[in-house]
Amino acid sequence: MAETLNVKNLGLRGVTVADTKISFIDGEKGVLIYRGYRIEQLAEESSFMEVAYLILNGHLPNEKELQSFETEVGKERQLPEYVYEVLKKYPEKAAPMDVLQASIPLLAMSDPNLHEETREAHVKMAIRLIAHIPVLVAAWYRIREGLEPLPSDDALSLSENFLWQLHGKLPDEEMARDLDTCLVLHADHTFNASTFACREVVSTRAHMYAGVAAGIGALSGSLHGGANAQVMKMLLALESEKNIDRWIKNELNSGGRVMGMGHAVYKTMDPRARFLKDMAARLGRKTGQERWHDLSTQIEKCGLEEFKKRGKTNIQPNVDFYSAPVYHIMGIPLDFMTPIFAMSRVSGWCAHIIEEKFAEAQEKPALYRPKAEYVGQYCGLSGCTYEPIETREDRVTEE
Ligand SMILES: CC(C)(COP(=O)(O)OP(=O)(O)OC[C@H]1O[C@@H](n2cnc3c(N)ncnc32)[C@H](O)[C@@H]1OP(=O)(O)O)[C@@H](O)C(=O)NCCC(=O)NCCS
Repeated sequence: MAETLNVKNLGLRGVTVADTKISFIDGEKGVLIYRGYRIEQLAEESSFMEVAYLILNGHLPNEKELQSFETEVGKERQLPEYVYEVLKKYPEKAAPMDVLQASIPLLAMSDPNLHEETREAHVKMAIRLIAHIPVLVAAWYRIREGLEPLPSDDALSLSENFLWQLHGKLPDEEMARDLDTCLVLHADHTFNASTFACREVVSTRAHMYAGVAAGIGALSGSLHGGANAQVMKMLLALESEKNIDRWIKNELNSGGRVMGMGHAVYKTMDPRARFLKDMAARLGRKTGQERWHDLSTQIEKCGLEEFKKRGKTNIQPNVDFYSAPVYHIMGIPLDFMTPIFAMSRVSGWCAHIIEEKFAEAQEKPALYRPKAEYVGQYCGLSGCTYEPIETREDRVTEE
């Protein structure tokens, strides 16, 4: 009989479900590695295009490889015309993450490689998704604001072009470079909820777009990627708060969470948060908006003290804590912060989908099928007595 592990109702914490060659986290030491390389070095020296190539292909590109990857991504920016028509029909108030998730199957419908079961075809789809998502996000922003989406500018990098298509003006070079670094920092993170969702979906042999749509759904939640928008809401609400200490105490006493703090794997400060904290300070100085960094550090300090008093020293800032002020300074609207996370993480999702489908880290592909313990009504194996609808008793409902 197969061994039964008692790991239920824990959100799979600490359960190893598969092997992966894509990324590695040491949660105690605060280390994140993509394909062998430390995140700090990648953030300082690499571009998002290099990192996306690395994650998808398993090695850093040489100059020729990088150039050809950038050209391929650049060529795929144009969305099919029908996607714009559908975007224009979505309700004005539609959440950007819902729009993004709903639009992924639209893109699938015209992908020429959709049903080709080769690695090469999957890399082509990944390139299309990496190119399309920023264009989609910016297009939805313009449409929602009653503006026409802007054509992409081939001379611009992915990050520059995104800021241009969003704001309609050429971005400051330093800011675009910083956004690119944000994309490097968010590109992959082992078996987080959205990546696991992607892998689970494609383990059924569903196509890459079905996996990515699932990933976007998982990312939208406020305990995952949606946390950055919640952090920004908190910062805006606390802008003129004099007593941060008291606010945190009240929040925790009433069962609330300090968004952007705590992590399922990191038990120390998230290495990505260190980078974003410095970036928020630098961009704040540059734009005269130091207050967001200052307020964030104040919340961090008070939060750490309060958690310590409660015996929870391992709840520390995560990636979303300082990405929120960074994006705000960049002029990214609050509800577009999580889509930026998706713009980057799609590279990791696609790499994991490829790894899952082609069993690149295990012997053969395996359909995910965990067990659940049934704790509901049970009348034995012959089942409960089925009452015809006419004879079922009225249920008393309390007012
Ligand atoms: C991400 C998160 C879900 C990870 O949590 P976890 O440590 O794996 O597990 P739990 O959710 O069970 O949290 C463990 C305990 O710490 C508390 N906790 C964790 N993060 C907290 C936070 N940010 N604020 C307040 N309490 C927190 C939980 O309430 C729980 O307390 P309990 O044991 O008294 O019930 C959690 O830290 C969180 O909700 N953070 C805020 C949302 C966020 O920033 N998400 C983005 C993550 S990158």
